[in-house]
Amino acid sequence: MIEYRWVTHDAPCMQEATDLRFEVLMAPFGVTRDDNWGDTDPHSHHLVAVEYGHVVGYARLIADSGAAQIRQVAVAFERQREGIGSALLEESVRKAHELGLDPVFLNSRVHAEEFYRRLGFTTVTAEPFPYGRTGMLHVRMEARRQH
Ligand SMILES: CC(C)(COP(=O)(O)OP(=O)(O)OC[C@H]1O[C@@H](n2cnc3c(N)ncnc32)[C@H](O)[C@@H]1OP(=O)(O)O)[C@@H](O)C(=O)NCCC(=O)NCCS
Repeated sequence: MIEYRWVTHDAPCMQEATDLRFEVLMAPFGVTRDDNWGDTDPHSHHLVAVEYGHVVGYARLIADSGAAQIRQVAVAFERQREGIGSALLEESVRKAHELGLDPVFLNSRVHAEEFYRRLGFTTVTAEPFPYGRTGMLHVRMEARRQH
């Protein structure tokens, strides 16, 4: 069974979350390992998916000045397409709303656009733009709370 837990940046499982983020988000694109993910940022909330004591998914919610941003969404390769990413996103959006934040936005790698669209996010940029350490093309997407 998978548990979804909000943890602090210094929780022991964050080391595994760091390994996971590198393996899933950076290594496939030849990016040199750099473990500075800005985890101590006071506005960041860390969500881990844990199975049998091991981290199989991660997402970050940055809660700052009225809007919320989701970043660094990663699911272990061997556990993708099982609903873990969707559960991480749904819990992140729920948390943002609990904190009174709306809309929720994110920068999606173009290949993941369909994943976020299915979760209620809409693309708000006209053209993809290079972003982050990989320089991959991204689109800005956001979800507004239904009242
Ligand atoms: C993108 C990612 C977070 C999705 O998490 P996941 O647990 O695999 O996704 P889910 O199982 O919840 O997928 C739900 C639906 O989203 C869509 N989807 C998920 N991954 C997709 C992909 N790579 N391409 C197209 N559609 C995708 C599918 O419709 C899927 O439903 P289906 O499996 O029934 O067809 C995960 O695959 C991942 O970590 N990818 C590598 C890192 C990455 O790209 N992160 C996003 C950075 S912006």
